[in-house]
Amino acid sequence: MTNPTVLVTGATGTVGSALLPALKARGATVRAMIRSPFKAMPGVENVVADLRDPEALTAALKGVDAAFLNSPSDEDAAELQMRFADLAHKADVNRLVVLSQYEARTDSPVRFLRWHAEVEAHVRGLGLDHTVLRPNLYMQSLLGFAGTIAQGLLAAPIGDAAVSVVDTRDVAATAAAVLTSQGHTGRTYTLTGPRAVTHEQIAQALSKATGQAIDFEDVPPGQFVSALTGMIPPWQLRGLVEDYAHYARGEAAEVHTSVTDLTGAPARDIADFAHDHVGAFTRD
Ligand SMILES: NC(=O)c1ccc[n+]([C@@H]2O[C@H](COP(=O)([O-])OP(=O)(O)OC[C@H]3O[C@@H](n4cnc5c(N)ncnc54)[C@H](OP(=O)(O)O)[C@@H]3O)[C@@H](O)[C@H]2O)c1
Repeated sequence: MTNPTVLVTGATGTVGSALLPALKARGATVRAMIRSPFKAMPGVENVVADLRDPEALTAALKGVDAAFLNSPSDEDAAELQMRFADLAHKADVNRLVVLSQYEARTDSPVRFLRWHAEVEAHVRGLGLDHTVLRPNLYMQSLLGFAGTIAQGLLAAPIGDAAVSVVDTRDVAATAAAVLTSQGHTGRTYTLTGPRAVTHEQIAQALSKATGQAIDFEDVPPGQFVSALTGMIPPWQLRGLVEDYAHYARGEAAEVHTSVTDLTGAPARDIADFAHDHVGAFTRD
C-alpha cells in the first residue's frame, strides 16, 4: 500500500500516540480517532468518534485504507472491538491491525486474554486482510505506579518470575511497519522486549537511572488489591490480579524477535525505558 490513509483508534493512548508520528514518518496519511475535540492530536487529521457510536465510526472509516484497532480496557471491550471490525469490513477497509495481548487464548484463566482471543477469532472469521499484534506487559505500565516507585517502592504479586516486558514505542513502530508494508496478512506477531526481567531487575534499572534506592517487594495479591481499591473499577482490578498471577506463573517470559524483524531496530531494554523516563520516577 503506497501512502495509505490510516485510521488510528486509541490515538491519545500509550501506543496510539506513538503510532501517529511513526506512521507519518512512513509516508501514511494519518487520521486520529479521538473522543473529544479537546484532545485533538497535533500534525494529523482528527476525527471525533467513540467506539460505542456506530454512526460516528462509519463516518470515521470512510475513505480509509487501513485501520489500527486499539481498545480501552473496558468491560465490554471485546464487543466494541468486534463491532468496529464489522464496520471496517463493511466500509471496505483493506487492512485491519488488531492490538491484542501476549498469550491471548480462549481458554485462558485471565479474562483480558480470553477477550482478546474472542476478538482475534471474530476478525479472522470476517475474511478481511488483518494482522494481530500481541504485546507483552508494557514497560509504560510502570508509569501508573510512578508515585510509589519515586518513594522507593515497586510492589507487585509476582515473586521472582521474569516477564519479557515491551516498550510501547516499539509496539507503535511495529504497528506502523505492519500497517504500511506487505506480507503480514493473517499473521500474528508476539511483541516483547529483548530479554525477560524480574521485578527485582526492573527496580534495579530504575534505581540506576534515578540514582535513588528503589526496592522491589513481592506482595500477596490481597495486599495489591487493597492498595489499588478505589483507584480502578473492581472488575478491572480482578483482571489485573489474574494478569499478575499469569506473570507470576512464569507464563510471560518468552522473548520474540518480531520488533526487530519488522522494524529493523533493536527492541528497547528496561534500562532504555528507565533512562528515558527518569523524571517520572525521581523524587521531587
Ligand atoms: N497495559 C499493558 O501492559 C498492555 C499489554 C498488552 C496489551 N494491552 C492492551 O492494550 C489496550 C489498551 O490498553 P491501555 O490501558 O494501554 O490504554 P491506552 O491505549 O493507553 O488508552 C486507551 C485509549 O482508548 C481510548 N478510548 C477509551 N474509551 C474509548 C471509547 N469508548 N471509544 C474510543 N476510544 C476510547 C482512550 O481515549 P481517551 O483519551 O479519550 O480516554 C485512549 O486513547 C488494551 O486492549 C489492553 O489489553 C495492554
